[in-house]
Amino acid sequence: MPNGSLEDHLFNNTSTLPWKTRLGIMLGAAQGLAYLHEGLEVKVIYRDFKSSNVLLDEGFRPKLSDFGLAREGPTGDHTHVSTTVVGTYGYAAPEYIDTGHLTIQSDVWTFGVVLYEIITGRRTVERNRPTSEQKLLDAAQNVGKLAQSCLKKNAKERPTMSQVVESLKQAIQESQEGINGAKKAAVTSSRTGGRRSN
Ligand SMILES: Nc1ncnc2c1ncn2[C@@H]1O[C@H](COP(=O)(O)OP(=O)(O)O)[C@@H](O)[C@H]1O
Ligand SMILES: [Mg+2]
Repeated sequence: MPNGSLEDHLFNNTSTLPWKTRLGIMLGAAQGLAYLHEGLEVKVIYRDFKSSNVLLDEGFRPKLSDFGLAREGPTGDHTHVSTTVVGTYGYAAPEYIDTGHLTIQSDVWTFGVVLYEIITGRRTVERNRPTSEQKLLDAAQNVGKLAQSCLKKNAKERPTMSQVVESLKQAIQESQEGINGAKKAAVTSSRTGGRRSN
């Protein structure tokens, strides 16, 4: 695809996607997932939604790629399909990691993760570093909530600046714990000869 992937544009410093383009990409990707979930005879779970699988054409229109992991969704009275957990760690929904139960709602989780990446311009999950990603995601969500609370229409409902300071300190501490956790995990896995990400 002429414009590579969404990942290429989100996490490098040379290309900044305008806000309108970002929203257009997420709308297109959401329409793609909605079609897979609701527009076909059988429900299709995409399963590997992430910014590197959202490819961009010459007009920055998104195309979902890598259907290798896609699965037919539950049929009849079944609520989920049981699978071995695959996909990209960190983008996967917690209930899917815990139980292997895959539903179309698992795709919705990963879409949410990428939405955060779009707003923040940062990775909210680290590749192959499961210990840190939830912390980073939590921190991103907390900062999002903080912004929401500052923007309350009713001035009285807004936090005081000292409350804002506290919330930010907490978010920084949480994401720091995430980074330290990831470093520890990387060291442990290199000692034990496990695969190490870079
Ligand atoms: N058809 C394509 N056109 C442009 N870039 C692509 C295409 N397919 C893959 N890429 C780029 O190659 C990178 C690696 O893709 P891939 O092998 O699918 O691994 P992953 O999606 O897990 O990062 C992606 O980040 C994307 O930027
Ligand atoms: Mg890919």
